[in-house]
Amino acid sequence: MFNQVAFIGLGLIGSSLARSLRANGLAKTIVASSRSERTIRTALEIGLIDEGFSDAADAVKNADLVVLAMPVCATQAVLESIKHNLKSTVIITDVGSTKGNVVAAAEAVFGTVPARFVPAHPIAGSEQSGVLAGKANLFDRHKVIITPLAHSDADAIAQVQQMWQAAGAEVLTMTVQRHDEVLAKTSHLPHLLAFSLVDTLARESQNLDIFRYAAGGFRDFTRIAGSDPTMWHDIFFANEHGIVAALDGFSEGVARLKAAIVAHDSDAVLGILTRAQVARHHFTHMLAGTAYSKTMNTKNLQFVVAAGGTLQGNLRVPGDKSISHRSIMLGSLAEGITEVTGFLEGEDALATLQAFRDMGVVIEGPKNGEVRIHGVGLQGLQAPPNALYVGNSGTSMRLLSGILSAQKFDTVMTGDASLSKRPMERIAKPLRSMGAVIQTTGEKGTPPISIKGNQLLKGITYAMPVASAQVKSGLLLAGLWAEGETVITEPAPTRDHSERMLRGFGYDVTTEGSTIRIRGGGKLTATNIDVPADISSAAFFMVGASIAPNADVILEHVGINPTRIGVINILRAMGGDLTLLNEREVGGEPVADIRVRSAKLKGIRIDEADVPLAIDEFPSLFIAAACAEGTTVLTGAEELRVKESDRIQVMADGLITLGIDAQPTPDGMIIQGGQIGSGKVISHGDHRIAMSFAIAALRASGTIEIEDCANVATSFPLFVELARGAGLKINVVEA
Ligand code: S3P
Repeated sequence: MFNQVAFIGLGLIGSSLARSLRANGLAKTIVASSRSERTIRTALEIGLIDEGFSDAADAVKNADLVVLAMPVCATQAVLESIKHNLKSTVIITDVGSTKGNVVAAAEAVFGTVPARFVPAHPIAGSEQSGVLAGKANLFDRHKVIITPLAHSDADAIAQVQQMWQAAGAEVLTMTVQRHDEVLAKTSHLPHLLAFSLVDTLARESQNLDIFRYAAGGFRDFTRIAGSDPTMWHDIFFANEHGIVAALDGFSEGVARLKAAIVAHDSDAVLGILTRAQVARHHFTHMLAGTAYSKTMNTKNLQFVVAAGGTLQGNLRVPGDKSISHRSIMLGSLAEGITEVTGFLEGEDALATLQAFRDMGVVIEGPKNGEVRIHGVGLQGLQAPPNALYVGNSGTSMRLLSGILSAQKFDTVMTGDASLSKRPMERIAKPLRSMGAVIQTTGEKGTPPISIKGNQLLKGITYAMPVASAQVKSGLLLAGLWAEGETVITEPAPTRDHSERMLRGFGYDVTTEGSTIRIRGGGKLTATNIDVPADISSAAFFMVGASIAPNADVILEHVGINPTRIGVINILRAMGGDLTLLNEREVGGEPVADIRVRSAKLKGIRIDEADVPLAIDEFPSLFIAAACAEGTTVLTGAEELRVKESDRIQVMADGLITLGIDAQPTPDGMIIQGGQIGSGKVISHGDHRIAMSFAIAALRASGTIEIEDCANVATSFPLFVELARGAGLKINVVEA
C-alpha cells in the first residue's frame, strides 16, 4: 500500500488505474497533475483524486509512487520538470505503449535510468479517451508487460507488479527491445492501418456514400481509428523503427495477396485466407486459455460420474481417428482435390491438419466433419515456418516421420508432455536404414525429432520387431519417395488403413500374408473419403452397454475393418451380446451398425492374436473384466505400457482404488471380477483411461471422480454430451 500516489496525466489509462487503486484501497491519497484544468476539476468532483495540480513538479513532491500516464513523447519534458522534487525512495513507473523511447528519455534526464524506475505497459484500453472514460476494472484479466532493466531494483519491480496484479492483470516481463518489436506488430500496426484506411476513404469525393453504406466489416476494422490522435501520433514517432519494419512485412503480405488475385490464383488466395482464418481462431482460443479445438480445454477437467444409469438409443460416435489422419496426409500428397466427410474434429487429427497447412497445403474446413484438401502432389510440400507441433498425437509424429524424411527441407517435430515420453526410435531406426537423417532426443529416443531434408531414400526389406501400424505406415509413406521397393513384414496383423487408402488413391500396394510391398516413384490421385465412426470410440459404449443393466444401444456406421475388431471378438468371448446389422462397404472399409445389449460377462484368457486388433480398447476391456464373473487374464500386451500413458499401470491403479483385484504384469493384467466401488482415479491425461473409468460408473456402488480429462478431446470431442444423452450420469467440473 502506498501513502501517496501521483498521476501525471489522467486520461483513460491513468484514471482507470487511479480508480483501481481506490477500489482496492492501495493508496492513502491520490494526487494528479494534468495539462487540462477541466480534467483536474472533474477528477476532484468525482472524488477520484484528493488534490490536483497544473504542474507535474508540484504533484510529485510527497509521492511514494509516480505514474507517468501522459502521452509518451512528453516523457522527457515531464521527467526534467519533476526530477528535483522527487523523494529519494520514490518508485516511478509509466503506462506508455512504447518502451524504448521512455527509457531513452529517462537516461537523457538522469544519466542512467533510476533503479526504482520500472517501465510498464498495460495492454488494455478502448477507443475512448479522457478521465470520464476510465473504469476500475479496465485491466481485469488483461496483460501488463513490465520491462525492467538489468540494474532495476527488485523491491520496486515487486511493488509495481503487485499493484497491477491487484488491478486484476497478469504481469509479464520482457526486454525493452522485444516489447517494442512485439507491440509494433500487434498494436501499433493495426492502429496505423485503421487510421490510414479511414483517412484514405474520407478523402474520396463520394466519401459520404461510402460511410453511409459502410457495414460491419468497415466498422469492426476501423473501430480503433476513433482512438486519441495525440497519443497515437506520439507512439508512431516513439516506435518508428519497429513500426516501419512491421509495415514493410505487412506490405509484402498485401502485395502477395494482390498478386494472387490479379493472377486469378485461386489456390494461393484460398491458402492465405484459410491459414489466416485458422490462425485467428487459434489465437482466440489461446487468449481464452483453451486449446486448438472448441471442445478441448487446457485446464484440468474432472469427470464426476454418479453410479448407476444405463445406456439406450442410437448413437453415432465421431469419425475414425486413424482414417482421419491418413485422409489429410494422403489428400495433401495427392494430385487434385480430396473431399472428406465424417472427419474427426479431435485434437489429434487437427494436429495433422495443422502440420500440412504449415507445409503450405490449402485445406478448407473442417466444418461439420467436411474437409476439402487441395493436394500439392508428392513434390509439393513446402518448408514449415516453425517446428511442427503435433500435441498428444503419436500417429501424427510417426507417420509424418516417414513423410518428412523424404522432403527437400529440414523439419523439427515436437509434442506435448505425454508424447514427449513415447518411443520414437522404432520408426527412426528403419527410416535411417532407408537413408533418412533423423534424430530423436535423449537416451530413450523420444521427441523432439529433427529430420534433415534432401536425402535420397532407398527401399529396404524390414521385419518389424513390434506389431505397430504406425511404424508400418511411416515406412510405407517414406516408400512413396524411395528408390526401389520397400518390403515390410509384420509380426502380427495391425490396422491396414494405410494400405487400403493408398490403393484408394490409386497407388499400388501389395499385401501377401504378413508382407506388404510398395514401390517409390508413383503418384497419388485425389479421391473422396467417407470416414466411418471410430470403433475405438464405439468401444466405450460396447463395454458400457454390456455391463449396464437394461442397456440396448445401436452404434451407427462403425468401421469394422478386420484389423480393428478385437474388441468385438473379446467381448463376445466374454459372453457379450453384440449383433452386426446392415453390414456394408464404404470407400474400401467395411462398416456396420452394432447392436449391444446387457449381458452377463465372464472372465476369460484373452487370445494374444486379438491384442493388436484391440490395442486401443484395453482400458475399456479392463472395465468389462472388472464387471465379469471370474478371472480375466491378458498377456502379450507390453505395448500398452508406451501408449498415451502406461495403460497397464494406470488402469491397475485406478481399478485397485475402486476396490477391484487387479494385478499388473509386465505384459498385461490379471483381473478378478467384483464390485466396482467409488473413489477418485487419475487418468494421467490419457483420453481412453478417462472415458473407461467414466463408463465404469454404470456398475459402480458410488460416484467415480476422474482427474485430468481434458485430453478426451484428442479422440472424442463431445463424449460427455453423447454419453449423458445415452444415460450415463456424467458431469464435468473445471478444477
Ligand atoms: C494407430 C496405430 C496404433 C494405435 C493408435 C493409432 C494408427 O498404434 O494405438 O491409436 O493410426 O496407425 P501402434 O501402431 O503404435 O500400435
